[in-house]
Amino acid sequence: MSVVYIQDAAGKNITVQDVDGRLYPSFKPEVIRGVSSLKLRDDDVILCSFPKSGTHWSFEICRLLLNGRLDIDIIPKGYLFADAVPESELNEVNSPRIINTHVRFDRLPSDVKTKKPKIVYIRRNPKDVAVSFYHHTRKMEHYHYDGKFKDYLPLFIGGVAYGSWFDYVLEWETIIANNQELSILELTYEDLKEDPIREIRRVSDFLGVQRNEDFFEGIKDFCNFSTMKGRFKDKMEIKDGHNIFYRKGEVGDWKNWFTVAQNEWFDRIYEKTMTDSKLKFKYTL
Ligand code: A3P
Repeated sequence: MSVVYIQDAAGKNITVQDVDGRLYPSFKPEVIRGVSSLKLRDDDVILCSFPKSGTHWSFEICRLLLNGRLDIDIIPKGYLFADAVPESELNEVNSPRIINTHVRFDRLPSDVKTKKPKIVYIRRNPKDVAVSFYHHTRKMEHYHYDGKFKDYLPLFIGGVAYGSWFDYVLEWETIIANNQELSILELTYEDLKEDPIREIRRVSDFLGVQRNEDFFEGIKDFCNFSTMKGRFKDKMEIKDGHNIFYRKGEVGDWKNWFTVAQNEWFDRIYEKTMTDSKLKFKYTL
């Protein structure tokens, strides 16, 4: 493993690794590399996101829709997180699988271009992603990080594990605009919060499953933040008695973390990047 220490503005290190020229968390490099050669099944669904954008939430919605019933507390093989779960273990899982990953598009399984599986892509307001990723980085031991938010934020802009949010979402915008033959559903964290039933229905239509409105209501309740936090409280990544993937679950928590000056600075960078890229979506920041 090629360990890299990225320094925040106060000189505190975050431990990541370089795999073939990109930064990742300290998962096994052969597993990260293996994502691009994963053999897909015809009915695999691929869930793509930048970290902290609502991956577990959308995974759970997809899982329940595909299963057709509300199963309590099932975590299939580390959420089928392909960046950390080896292919041999993913292969032990029954179909249909929801393979999830944070790798960039060019490192997705090469089968994506030939088999054209259903791809669910979720994004979130970058300010909330920055706050969420900051807490995640402090809690996940492999990052070895205990810095302050003000010192972390500039790193987030430039890129941390998995690189820059801007690069990630700009690439997806281009992919969605230019690859009409791919089957991609765009979700946002904010839309899921605003109208979960509408969004669950969209996912259901996209996945091509026949579920009724009562079932959508059931998923909405079963997947709301506090229910999910409770259901998974003892599972997977636990720190200080909590599953670290369930922190606050709100839109706009960034307002509790950004100073006025940081916010104006972030807005200037966002404006410039979005204007230069002619990105079609825009967050009201
Ligand atoms: P916060 O840190 O802002 O609370 P990911 O699953 O991609 O790692 O994203 C984690 C973020 O999604 C965390 O955000 C987490 O609390 C939030 N989250 C997880 N489950 C959720 C749910 N059911 N509803 C809303 N937010 C949820």
